Amino acid sequence: MKKIEFSVSVFEVENIQELTPEEQRMIALSREMTHKAYAPYSHFFVGAAVLLANGQTVTGSNQENAAYPSGLCAERVAIFSASAQYPQVDVVMVAISARSNTHSVDHPISPCGACRQVLFEYEFRQNKPVKVLLSGETGKILVLDKVKDLLPFTFTPDELK
Ligand code: THU
Repeated sequence: MKKIEFSVSVFEVENIQELTPEEQRMIALSREMTHKAYAPYSHFFVGAAVLLANGQTVTGSNQENAAYPSGLCAERVAIFSASAQYPQVDVVMVAISARSNTHSVDHPISPCGACRQVLFEYEFRQNKPVKVLLSGETGKILVLDKVKDLLPFTFTPDELK
């Protein structure tokens, strides 16, 4: 039996000033988007901002529904909208933030498994890494060089050939 190991690098940022101005802007946008979330059931408000290679930013927030599984996470709202509007344009970066009515989110949140798989699809399609910034309302920020680092054992479109 052979052991297979995956390794990922995650960069932890204590102070937002350590990020580039563009990264800071993306974090700020994702935090702003938490105020546009529709989350009357969980009271957990997530914002996402996608930076495209043409300089456009496309944003999203979680959208819940009384039929619970019909809702959608902020990351998928943002990336689906980006791909729907700009299907030919590469994705450079995704920033994700969250806030809650019930507690303070003082650490970075991490996308759910379905969002990791969906974000990866676009990274795979363009064959170029998508930087990922994860934050809360306050506290440390995590930076990953690529979506693949969030989901090492990915199901890839190659399987469907
Ligand atoms: N949520 C997101 O929008 N993104 C994530 O990565 C995790 C969870 C949303 C879904 C739901 O509206 C609420 O947060 C609680 O799970």
